[in-house]
Amino acid sequence: MNADSLSVRLAADRARVDACLARLFEARQAPAPRLDAAMRHGLLVGGKRLRPVLVYLAGRALGAADEALDAPAAAVELIHAYSLVHDDLPAMDDDDLRRGQPTVHRAYDEATAILAGDALQCLAFEVLADAGHPRLPAQVRVLAEAAGRDGMVGGQALDLAAVGGHPDVEALASVHAHKTGALIRAAVRLGALTAVAASDPRVAALDRYAAAIGLAFQIHDDVLDVAGDTGTLGKASGADAARHKPTYPSLLGLEGARARAVELVEEAVATLATLGDAAAPLAELARYMIERDH
Ligand code: IPE
Ligand code: IPE
Ligand code: MG
Ligand code: MG
Ligand code: MG
Repeated sequence: MNADSLSVRLAADRARVDACLARLFEARQAPAPRLDAAMRHGLLVGGKRLRPVLVYLAGRALGAADEALDAPAAAVELIHAYSLVHDDLPAMDDDDLRRGQPTVHRAYDEATAILAGDALQCLAFEVLADAGHPRLPAQVRVLAEAAGRDGMVGGQALDLAAVGGHPDVEALASVHAHKTGALIRAAVRLGALTAVAASDPRVAALDRYAAAIGLAFQIHDDVLDVAGDTGTLGKASGADAARHKPTYPSLLGLEGARARAVELVEEAVATLATLGDAAAPLAELARYMIERDH
């Protein structure tokens, strides 16, 4: 798949999951309309939808039908959107701009942003439950673990505890693997489990792929914070240094960080070898993850 067909595929899958997400707000008497509006603001406007795309690509690589992948794709984006709404709060990264828009607490208020995040998280599990896939208990387990104390939330706690400190690369890799890597691994695993049982050896290969691209993805996010500009990123650049966050560029330098991300992507692509041609789109996506400008 060349760059053009990758962008066409990304746009198609983005549109597909966007339609599923938008439907969650249609034909509904919202008891708290302002809360629904804040949820829509945090979820529906902007965003690359890379985690849903990973669900689709991993699932298709193992033979799942698109219709069966919609719910896990939407669920993982709901968790991601919730994580961003809370990540931007004054008590956390205190950011004003996200996806080219005011952050939810800026557009609404802090209490509404906290509640919108809470409700987005619950909605993720509601969507999975409604779809009723035969492996629903496994899907719930994967998503809950990736979102919670052993995954994203645990990583966010480590991230905040590291502010102003000087962790070594191994410790920072652990922060990144939890706060960002866990949900990326969950996206790939949810796609895979839609098609096959966890015991299928291809699931383990995809898990190694996902762990490598998850770390590469957050390293590139750190790189963009230094090398990107606010207009293109849709979020403030330079925010990590301003907040004394340890990052890959702060530990390894910009070129060192970039080199590590490239190494990880090559590792990820190598793990796909056993999956044959079906995994070619996953290899393209891995490369895109560290070439993107936002
Ligand atoms: C941003 O993720 C937060 C990180 C985990 C680095 P994305 O770069 O995927 O953000 P959106 O969804 O495209 O806005
Ligand atoms: C966020 O990491 C990881 C999450 C769990 C949301 P960052 O704090 O670096 O993400 P950005 O740069 O604000 O998007
Ligand atoms: Mg953060
Ligand atoms: Mg942040
Ligand atoms: Mg960042």
